[in-house]
Amino acid sequence: MIKGFIFDLDGVITDTAELHFLAWKALADDMGWQFDRDVNEKLRGVSRMDSIGIIMEHNRVSLPEDEVAALATKKNDIYVASLDQITTEDYLPGARELLTHLRQEGFKVALGSASKNSTKVLQQLNATKYFDVIGDGNSVSKSKPAPDIFLFGAEKLDLKPAECIVYEDAESGVDAAKAGGFFSVGIGPKDRVGHADVCFSSMKEATLFEVKSHFKDLF
Ligand code: G6P
Ligand code: MG
Repeated sequence: MIKGFIFDLDGVITDTAELHFLAWKALADDMGWQFDRDVNEKLRGVSRMDSIGIIMEHNRVSLPEDEVAALATKKNDIYVASLDQITTEDYLPGARELLTHLRQEGFKVALGSASKNSTKVLQQLNATKYFDVIGDGNSVSKSKPAPDIFLFGAEKLDLKPAECIVYEDAESGVDAAKAGGFFSVGIGPKDRVGHADVCFSSMKEATLFEVKSHFKDLF
């Protein structure tokens, strides 16, 4: 039986992808690296250090580890400063309604994000109150597609993976949910998250009613 839900943050609760894009773009321009929205799409759900690795590989650049880390920090400083723009109006359509509904129905809820800035994003949205457990990039060392972040969330909620549904918008995130034995809801196009147990084009469609109808034997 489903007793809990675990949510990815970026692309599920709110759309920080644009702010990540702008911060990476500022760094890339500064370094004279090519970077566009197509490359940015490859960074969805990918950790900060893996992201800079992808951008450098795209530009056939290699640098000593400490310089790469310093550049990732520089991008992060730009990104964190831009998070001040996020307000309580910046939930993706349907996300706040779903979180409210889950609270009303007494489900346990965890965050399972790769971002080390999750706490700040949740504060800006005033969304911390919807979560029993915050699992983020600081909670585990292996990032998605490893299932660790979702296993962390389930354990803290005191639930088994088979008692939880994971919401994800990234290919690697759905892979992580499946690897951990969780039920999965994919948010976005089929060519990205079509391997989830059920897929919706946006959070607006992914209501508790729809999810209950799909997994009807589990509620
Ligand atoms: C999320 C985003 C990624 C981002 C990652 C790490 O998964 O989808 O684009 O790179 O978090 O975020 P951070 O805030 O720790 O740099
Ligand atoms: Mg995401």
